[in-house]
Amino acid sequence: MDVKTKVCNLEQCDEEAIGLFFSEDNCRVEDMYKGLDALFNNALSAMINNKDFKAEKDEIKVIYNTRKSKIKYLILTGMGKKEKQTYFSFENNVANAIRKARELKVKSVALSSIKLAQEKIEDTGKILTFASYLALYKNVSFKSKEKEKEVSTIERVSLIVTKENEKIVSGAVSYATIVSQGVSMTRDIVNTPANIAHTDYMVEYAQKIAKEYGLKCTVFEHKQLEKMGMNCILAVGKGSYHKPKLVVLEYNGGKRDEKPIAIVGKGVVFDTGGYSVKTSIFGTNYMLNMKDDKAGAVITLHALAIAAKLKLSVNLLGIFPLVENMISGESYRVDDIYKAYNGLMVEVRNTDAEGRLILADALAYACEKKPKVIVDLATLTGAALIAIGNFAVPIMGNNKELIERIKRASEKSLERVWEFPLWEEYGEALKSDIADIKNVTDATDAGSIIGGIFLKNFVKDNIPWCHIDIAIPTFSTQEKGVNSKGATGFGVRLITELLRGYSVEK
Ligand code: BES
Ligand code: MN
Ligand code: ZN
Repeated sequence: MDVKTKVCNLEQCDEEAIGLFFSEDNCRVEDMYKGLDALFNNALSAMINNKDFKAEKDEIKVIYNTRKSKIKYLILTGMGKKEKQTYFSFENNVANAIRKARELKVKSVALSSIKLAQEKIEDTGKILTFASYLALYKNVSFKSKEKEKEVSTIERVSLIVTKENEKIVSGAVSYATIVSQGVSMTRDIVNTPANIAHTDYMVEYAQKIAKEYGLKCTVFEHKQLEKMGMNCILAVGKGSYHKPKLVVLEYNGGKRDEKPIAIVGKGVVFDTGGYSVKTSIFGTNYMLNMKDDKAGAVITLHALAIAAKLKLSVNLLGIFPLVENMISGESYRVDDIYKAYNGLMVEVRNTDAEGRLILADALAYACEKKPKVIVDLATLTGAALIAIGNFAVPIMGNNKELIERIKRASEKSLERVWEFPLWEEYGEALKSDIADIKNVTDATDAGSIIGGIFLKNFVKDNIPWCHIDIAIPTFSTQEKGVNSKGATGFGVRLITELLRGYSVEK
């Protein structure tokens, strides 16, 4: 599927379906729709005049052409009152319109973009492109029968623009196309279950991507991790047939002497909880979908690939441990004590708080590389759902400027973040009687913050660092907005915008 810009009058389109977007307070047949209206025997004006379509929020109506014409359908989407519209609601509306087109089994769709957010036409172009690609994402399929696989017949989406807007919109389309591909690839791998996407597979996949995008890739096998003293990564990975690894990627698009931006991702290919096993309570099985616990690592890998493809002028380090948190005679236990890579002695009080353990080593390793900043992405705590729900992810860190940057990138990428505090007082509860720090507190208060506080102990204070807890939006149980069922790739767009921010300011 391809998204392209196109300069033409709407009635001259050769696409089978045309998506039009209306505001409730301006629901009328504008001049640019008159030709289309005529082509459809005035069905558009009739529908609007009869108030069969009022452009209420999320309203969708389809008009079928009774004449013989290339254009078979008009898909009218209501966006509600102008003052309540946001980029988020717009993205949702475009995703719904494009899914309606998929339902109609058309091969081509044109989206009218002329009248939307005129003042920021570039953003409109990005949103239309992202929503088209992401809403049409087809999940990796392991169905044995070809005909049962998800299909979308849509081959082409054209964004109809004016001559003077074409250049700026097509720039936005190119950017969003590259990033969308990265999001889709991320979804594919996160959706791949751990019997296939085990740590060895993930290493091979990372090497393949690195080669394709010209990234340097170093893999530390468990023997090397032993020599290095990455004992927390090793501990978590002990119970699995597939050995733990640490992958380090490099992209050098910046100046030679420029410090790298380090992205660190949690890569737990499956999280059973270990001996603090994930249970099933009142019909909710907390182990289900834990193949998504590697999302941070997969995002890190693809963020570097995207940066390379966009030729961003930044130096990047991508660092991700890969482990499987399993139960066996060799598994790590609660009460165990391990020396982390930075020398801190860690008491394991819960084997299900494994993400922070592997990140402890990975973050300490990242600090050694003296990066400009560190951003980590981790499916770290279910508590994030209680704290803030599914509409934003917690971010926390040690540097105001970096947090502000991430907030700006969040606004641009439509992946919402919200800052949580990392006050000293929270840290008290992580003090261990017998070692330096324990991996969980005795209470369940402020679970997401406690995760962040734990990580902070493995980051040097003078290196700006931000932790992004993506546990909740990483996996979607329903098709909604730009998300399909399963992995969402949440974080890819955010990190890409962050990196682009660093790149363009030079
Ligand atoms: N991978 C989970 C977090 C998670 C929960 C991700 C739900 C996606 C959806 C993490 O390793 C975990 O188990 N966290 C524990 C922490 C607790 C033991 C302090 C949790 O959230 O319960
Ligand atoms: Mn866990
Ligand atoms: Zn986990």
